[in-house]
Amino acid sequence: MFRARHLLGIEPLAPAEITAILDLAETYVDLNRRTVKHSNALEGMTQINMFFENSTRTQSSFELAGKRLGADVMNMSMQTSSVKKGETLIDTALTLNAMHPDLLVVRHPQSGAVDLLAQKVNCAVLNAGDGRHEHPTQALLDALTIRRTKGRLHRLTVAICGDIAHSRVARSNLILLVKMENRVRLVGPATLMPSGVGELGCEVYEDMREGLKGADVVMMLRLQKERMDGGFIPSEREYYHRWGLDAEKLALAHPDAIVMHPGPMNRGVEIDGTIADDINRSVIQDQVEMGVAVRMACMDLLARNLRAQRGAMASQAFEV
Ligand code: NCD
Repeated sequence: MFRARHLLGIEPLAPAEITAILDLAETYVDLNRRTVKHSNALEGMTQINMFFENSTRTQSSFELAGKRLGADVMNMSMQTSSVKKGETLIDTALTLNAMHPDLLVVRHPQSGAVDLLAQKVNCAVLNAGDGRHEHPTQALLDALTIRRTKGRLHRLTVAICGDIAHSRVARSNLILLVKMENRVRLVGPATLMPSGVGELGCEVYEDMREGLKGADVVMMLRLQKERMDGGFIPSEREYYHRWGLDAEKLALAHPDAIVMHPGPMNRGVEIDGTIADDINRSVIQDQVEMGVAVRMACMDLLARNLRAQRGAMASQAFEV
């Protein structure tokens, strides 16, 4: 069902492919809850993680996922690599490529950098977040979390709130949720709303109270200050007052609404700490758990495709 060579974004995926990834991830949720968590899906394969941006959850989750599937996992330390000596991304990639990795997991501050790299290497590439473009495994883990807690992944009203303009998480989630036939509302200050989002099949709200009314899922985002080059908000205090998720605003959503956040969270800026910790509303820790399972599923499927391609190439060579 999922035949692609790389996982670079949600954009090229068909709904059936998304469902196939989530279904396989379910089996890994079960495996991860056992005492012995090993599978041999990536046995003998080499996975290299290249993170050109800081990461806690995504990097550790990809590392665990690879190890649980039996791969040899190497974390490149980009702070101490030759990138600091001026080597280009492509040269670094070609150097690593010569070591025959099977899976490359890449996070990069520039939108499109991971796609470019994928064209230069002969292994499978997974995008772990490129600039403000895409973060496909985050959207997939969010989808799995929603499907498990709400019992479905269609005909839900999802409010994605905060710094939409700088967020690859918002972009990948929007694309996925619209593909799966949900109603998506983007909520935030006009200064943090990218132009032309209306065309992506969603509704846009500046008033958070309006945007949250009747929502089944409330997804909060961090202010991505590292991607801002000027004053986008009046002050953090004012921002919290208007767009921070507190009990009073959450009361406007559906009584069973769940609260999500990809992390890292800034308590008291975009979300009240009590809500984030409320196990009856917040599924933030479930998102982290689903992250490992979803990444295992994605890497398992890419490894199957890689084996099939290499097998096909080998038999062609044999015929000649
Ligand atoms: C997000 C990211 O890096 O895009 N975090 C994550 O992957 N869990 C969101 C963020 O940095 O705010």
